[in-house]
Amino acid sequence: MKHASIACYSASGNTRRIAGWIADELSTNNIQTSFYKIPECRNAIPPEMLDTDLLIIGTPTYMWHTPSVVIEFLNAIGTLDNLPVGLFVTFGNVTVGSNLSYMARKIRGKKGKVVGALQLEGQHAMMFQSDNPLAKGKPLDTDTSYIKEFVARCMERADLPGKGIQHIPGIMKYFSFMAPPGIARRIMPAIKVTSESCNLCGDCVKSCPTGNITIQDQRVLHGNDCLLCYNCVRACTTGATGANLLSMDKGLRAMSKLPEKSAAVY
Ligand SMILES: Cc1cc2nc3c(=O)[nH]c(=O)nc-3n(C[C@H](O)[C@H](O)[C@H](O)COP(=O)(O)O)c2cc1C
Ligand code: SF4
Ligand code: SF4
Repeated sequence: MKHASIACYSASGNTRRIAGWIADELSTNNIQTSFYKIPECRNAIPPEMLDTDLLIIGTPTYMWHTPSVVIEFLNAIGTLDNLPVGLFVTFGNVTVGSNLSYMARKIRGKKGKVVGALQLEGQHAMMFQSDNPLAKGKPLDTDTSYIKEFVARCMERADLPGKGIQHIPGIMKYFSFMAPPGIARRIMPAIKVTSESCNLCGDCVKSCPTGNITIQDQRVLHGNDCLLCYNCVRACTTGATGANLLSMDKGLRAMSKLPEKSAAVY
């Protein structure tokens, strides 16, 4: 194996950090890496991404599921012709839900060979208004031991005949319907822009992974391509873009008591 492609969606940086560690580990095994950002390539997959020995796809967990931009990316991929694929997800110590198992099913549906799967905690991206967010400070530098194991399994299984991993646990599949943004908008705290407090600094525009925010006629406007990642709320230092995420705090902490959590390599 000489080359790997890593395609990654990461709104607040946890998943991107792990992607970097994976690239470092691949490099110590003399494997060169190319990076691709989701959502940028969600509708048009660059052909060179699939001209590789190993494809690795990484994403956070949103509402027990795979974020809609990553689902669009997976849908846009053509037939994979037995290409080895490694999957990794981050989650805020609530649950990965059906995220990993769903992605694995999609990849197998595209005739790809799932050769490794990893789940790791990342500080809960919806809890930045709390002093003590779930999975505070994660991922940890010591998580590189999981990365080593994940990369080793991907490399080993890529060279073995057969169809790769056939079963990855996934719970709460029945909540999968909540991931599409239309449904999420009805459940998650609303984002409001108060023009009077806005100094038109543009930080919210820069922070948005989908390019959903524009400034027109001295007003901040939000379009219809929102993932509810809340980066814009985090980026706005004047409080002009706001959302009451603390309203979810108690519920998220209660759900973090669900049995399935912690890091795992499959
Ligand atoms: C909209 C949204 C939904 C989330 N849903 C879940 C969830 O269902 N389970 C969970 O454990 N963490 C959840 N999280 C936390 C993220 O999965 C976690 O913080 C992840 O590491 C963020 O990755 P990133 O920094 O690469 O964007 C959610 C975060 C956001 C913003
Ligand atoms: S508008 Fe805000 S919450 Fe929606 S995707 Fe952009 S940054 Fe995230
Ligand atoms: S970050 Fe806040 S203050 Fe700056 S343009 Fe956006 S809404 Fe206005």
